[in-house]
Amino acid sequence: MDKNIVWHNYAVEKAHRGELKGHKPVILWFTGFSGSGKSTVANALESALHQSGVHTYLLDGDNVRHGLCKDLSFSDADRVENIRRVGELSKLMVDAGLVVLTAFISPFQAERDMVRNLVGEGEFIEVFLDTPLDVCEQRDPKGLYKKARAGEIKNFTGIDSDYQPPLSPEVRINTGDNSLEESVQQLIEYLKNKKVIQ
Ligand code: ADX
Repeated sequence: MDKNIVWHNYAVEKAHRGELKGHKPVILWFTGFSGSGKSTVANALESALHQSGVHTYLLDGDNVRHGLCKDLSFSDADRVENIRRVGELSKLMVDAGLVVLTAFISPFQAERDMVRNLVGEGEFIEVFLDTPLDVCEQRDPKGLYKKARAGEIKNFTGIDSDYQPPLSPEVRINTGDNSLEESVQQLIEYLKNKKVIQ
């Protein structure tokens, strides 16, 4: 970074924006295999929060890779860059006072920790979609596991690319055992307990 670029402090800060909205700004960071239920649970949670007047924004890997990250592949280095960009974007959205939901495989612990360290204490909530690989592969909603097994897609997470499960996630969900409603309820209770929402 150019040493002539200085940081300006703002008169209106994160806490003020959060107060105006009546909730605490946070990132709900969903991580897990493709097909583990990240987007489905994040979508359903966003709907429930929105209906109760919480100002949310959902960032989803498949969609962000059509725009902000459309130049990135699925090599390890590009996945790191994907998460760096999304982390910085999420940080800005938290600063804007929003409850941000993100649905990215985000396979590496170091990058998830990097995002955690971008925001304040308690503002990063790691939600591990702990759905076993065989269940994800059986679901195969986009037919991508089949292609990966056939060698038509390289570096597919869980097949020939690594996934590091979170060491101590704030919330763990197994969508193989729980219904969508149960998963959403589990998250809402967590948010209420932590006084993120009323
Ligand atoms: S991440 O690893 O960089 O966090 P991201 O969540 O953005 O991944 O994108 C994952 C989505 O891209 C998957 O849900 C799947 O639909 C699609 N995809 C295409 N190729 C791959 C691949 N090689 N590995 C994983 N997902 C892939």
